[in-house]
Amino acid sequence: MAFPETRLRRLRRTPVLRRMVRETRLAADDLIYPLFVCPGQGVARPVSSMPGVFQHSVDRLVEAAKEAFDDGIPAVLLFGIPERKDATGSAAWAEDGIVQRALAALKRSLPELVAIADVCFCEYTDHGHCGVLEGETVANDETVANLARQAVSLARAGADVVAPSDMMDGRVGAIRRALDEAGLADAAILSYAAKFASAFYGPFREAAESAPAFGDRRSYQMDPANGREALREVDLDVAEGADMLMVKPALPYLDVVRAVRRRYGHPLVAYQVSGEYAMIHAAAGNGWIDYQRVLMESLLAIRRAGADLIITYGARDAARLLHRGWTE
Ligand code: PBG
Repeated sequence: MAFPETRLRRLRRTPVLRRMVRETRLAADDLIYPLFVCPGQGVARPVSSMPGVFQHSVDRLVEAAKEAFDDGIPAVLLFGIPERKDATGSAAWAEDGIVQRALAALKRSLPELVAIADVCFCEYTDHGHCGVLEGETVANDETVANLARQAVSLARAGADVVAPSDMMDGRVGAIRRALDEAGLADAAILSYAAKFASAFYGPFREAAESAPAFGDRRSYQMDPANGREALREVDLDVAEGADMLMVKPALPYLDVVRAVRRRYGHPLVAYQVSGEYAMIHAAAGNGWIDYQRVLMESLLAIRRAGADLIITYGARDAARLLHRGWTE
């Protein structure tokens, strides 16, 4: 049946009719809120390139997490800004490390909130690369051993989920074995399975104080040109025991999100990264687009492509809009 018998506009006539035939929905349950924890007391230092994002000391972080949980957001993702950095990033596995302290405080005040901890070294090394250097390059296997130590330390401190974002080969399997041997079999792994060497991470590096001192991350993160290779990365992480899979960034990589969705039944997470968030704010700040509508449309598009969950700095804004009945 074709036009004129078929008229697709019939089901677009009224807001309620449109609501009925919507294929994709967004809920606060789908959102994960990233937070940055720094030393000190009573600190909430704004990140200039990301409006609404702060470096929080542990006390303020707990408040921010509580507000997010009250908005209906089930999980936070933690990044740490440590007191000291060194060549290996050893502060990342310190028992009294900054994220370890934040986890303990979160578990005390908000035991139900799901705490996800980023596992990586770029915030902890004095050179800003994601592992131990051998000359100018990151040594894979030595870094993997350290990642496993960091993951165990974070899970012991209370992380429900550890999320390796380093892109070393073999890290998911090594982390799984280390967690199990440490009696932490219940700690889940959300692997940054397909993480691309993206220019969209720019603002994050200001927030996390993690820009590499020289070079870039192209010898460990993926080439933005490679979709088939992304599936091989995902295959390996699945084989090594990842519980949840992530594609990052989100909007420029929706084809990868869709391909992973088709291939696996695992919960699939997409990370709407700092640059994606900053661009929406920058354009809206100039009056060129509407922040709320573009945020919600981008999140819906990420869900439509096949992501179950979305990590976004706009999580609280989105959750509040959904709470007020946003259906546009
Ligand atoms: C690495 C890490 C990065 C992000 C999350 N984990 C930065 C990088 O790879 O350089 C970026 C997230 C964002 O841009 O919002 N620990």
